[in-house]
Amino acid sequence: MMSRTLRIDEDGVLRTIDQTLLPFERREIALRSVEDCRRAIVSMQVRGAPLIGAVGAWGLALALRDDPSDAALHEAWRWLLGARPTAVNLRWALDRAMRRVAPLPPAQRAQAARGEAMAICDDDADCNRRIGEHGAALLEALRERLAPNRRAGAPLNLLTHCNAGRIATLDHGTALAPIYLLHQRDVPVHVWVDETRPRNQGASLTAWELAERGVPHTVIVDNAGGLLMRQGRVDAAIVGCDRVAANGDVANKIGTYLKALAARDCGLPFWVACPVSTIDPQAVDGDAVPIEERDAREVTHATGRLADGTIAAVQVVPDGSPVANPGFDVTPARLVGGLVTEHGVFEASAEGVARALAAGLAGT
Ligand code: MRU
Repeated sequence: MMSRTLRIDEDGVLRTIDQTLLPFERREIALRSVEDCRRAIVSMQVRGAPLIGAVGAWGLALALRDDPSDAALHEAWRWLLGARPTAVNLRWALDRAMRRVAPLPPAQRAQAARGEAMAICDDDADCNRRIGEHGAALLEALRERLAPNRRAGAPLNLLTHCNAGRIATLDHGTALAPIYLLHQRDVPVHVWVDETRPRNQGASLTAWELAERGVPHTVIVDNAGGLLMRQGRVDAAIVGCDRVAANGDVANKIGTYLKALAARDCGLPFWVACPVSTIDPQAVDGDAVPIEERDAREVTHATGRLADGTIAAVQVVPDGSPVANPGFDVTPARLVGGLVTEHGVFEASAEGVARALAAGLAGT
C-alpha cells in the first residue's frame, strides 16, 4: 500500500491528509495508534463513509498491536464504532476485521488485523473503480439520449452534493468515480458542486479534488440547485451515501433529500453511488438510520481563510440563537433512480437491495 487516501510510509506508519485543512493546506497526519484513528474520525480529519470504515479497521489493528487480548479486541471494536453513527461502513469494516481475527490465538491477531485492514483498503479502491465503470455507462447512455437536442461538444451537466470523491474513499470516489472516468475519456462533463453547509465539503473538498484533476466545475450555494434544474442546466444528480436501508431508502449528507425532490419535480435522474458495503440490511427503512446531530458551532460559525492567510472560524449567527445541526438526511427510495454499485446498477427498492446484496455475496 499505496498512493491512496491512506498510505503506509517507509517506516511502516499509516498516513493520510488532514481534510479539515483543505483546500488551503495539504498536510499529512500520522495515525500511530487506535486513539489517533478514532480522533481522526471524530474530528473529521478523515471523513466519508468508506474512508471512515478503513480507518476504523486500521484502528482495530493498531489496538491489537498494543494488546491482542479478547478484552482489548472487544473494547476497541466498541470504542471505534462509537466514533460516528451514520455511515454503516464503519460497522461493516469493524465487523469484517473482527470476524477475521476473533477466532485466532491472540499472538496472531495483530498481523491478521493489519492484513485485513490492507485488504479492506484494496477492496474499496477496486469497488470504486467498478462503480466508476457502471456509473460512466449510465452517464454515457444519458448523454446519447440528450444528444439530438444538444449542440455538439456540449458538456453533460451533473450536480453533486457533499464530497463522495477520492478523499472520501481509498481511491476514485463513489459519486465522482464515473465523472473522473468520463473526463479521462475526453467526454465533456461539468459538475455543479453544492457547497454543502455547514462544513462545506462540496466547496472545500469536491471543488479541490475536481480542480486537481482538471474537471470543469462550478461551486453553487446549497439552495441554487433547484433553480438550475428548472432552467435545464442540470442533466442529472449523482451523490454518495452513508447507509442504504433494506427498502432502498438512502441516508446521505444533510440537504440530499431536497436535491432529490427538486430532481423528481424537474424529471431529472437522481442516482446514488455506493459500494454494497454501504447497504445495511438490518435497517428496515430510512427511519431506522441513526442521524448524527453535530455541534452547533458548525452552524454558528463558518471556517475559511482570512486575507492574511490564516484559517479562522467567523461567527455568522447572533449570540444566543438556538441552532440545530443534523448531519444527514434520508431520501426515500421512490426518489432514487438507481443504486450504482460495484456489481452494477440496482433499483432502489427492497428487491433491488436484495439483488445487490446477493451479487455482493456471490462476488459477481
Ligand atoms: O460528514 P461526512 O463528510 O463524512 O459526509 C460524507 C457524505 O455524506 C458522503 O456523501 C458519503 O459518506 C459518501 S462518501 C463516498
